[in-house]
Amino acid sequence: MINGVKLAPSILSADLSRLGEQVREAAAAGADYIHIDVMDGRFVPVISFGTPLVAAVRKITELTLDIHLMIEEPERHIGAFMDAGGDIINVHVEACRHLHRVVQEVHARGKRAGVCLNPVTPASALEEILGELDQVMVMAVNPGWSGQRFIPEVLPKVERLRRMIDGAGLAAEIEVDGGVTPETAPGAVSAGACVLVAASAVFNDRASVAENMAQLKKALAKVREGA
Ligand code: DX5
Ligand code: ZN
Repeated sequence: MINGVKLAPSILSADLSRLGEQVREAAAAGADYIHIDVMDGRFVPVISFGTPLVAAVRKITELTLDIHLMIEEPERHIGAFMDAGGDIINVHVEACRHLHRVVQEVHARGKRAGVCLNPVTPASALEEILGELDQVMVMAVNPGWSGQRFIPEVLPKVERLRRMIDGAGLAAEIEVDGGVTPETAPGAVSAGACVLVAASAVFNDRASVAENMAQLKKALAKVREGA
């Protein structure tokens, strides 16, 4: 946590041949969450990870596991992801017909419920459920791959959500996912995000996980709180 902002490295860009090591490096460098991107080849074009990987990561870290379900009909699978060790279960509003029920089921298991918005899905899609949520995830790329460019047009939506949450005295945290780098992170935080996901900015060939995390923290340290 730096300046009240949590960092959630996404293992989508990690070297999976040494996943344990990569997760431990991220934890040692101050990661708050480990973000796990689950893709089904339907909601998004590609297929990534499933419950066995979540269970494997659960064994190697006590950090909060932030599960990003980029899958159709997430209601069919949330139980399995909670059984596997997920702590925050995030479903896409675009993929979920009975969002309220999903949130209830996640809470009934004592877990945290998050809802994700694709870049052009408006903040108003969550108006009726915002008070029930622990987290709102704003996608700053079109979900499917790591390494894409940050879409700055989502920032006014982050600001709008910040006003909706603060105005009603709600507890939901705003997470921004996609294209987060030392260059884009300050803008996301200034708009109102308090959790940042980063895959390719943390796990890459250019520098170590520790160095990359330090660069992100340095960028965040410059953002004045409330600025
Ligand atoms: C995108 C995923 C993101 C992705 C971020 O579909 O939901 O979590 O891993 O990757 P970067 O940080 O490289 O944009
Ligand atoms: Zn994600």
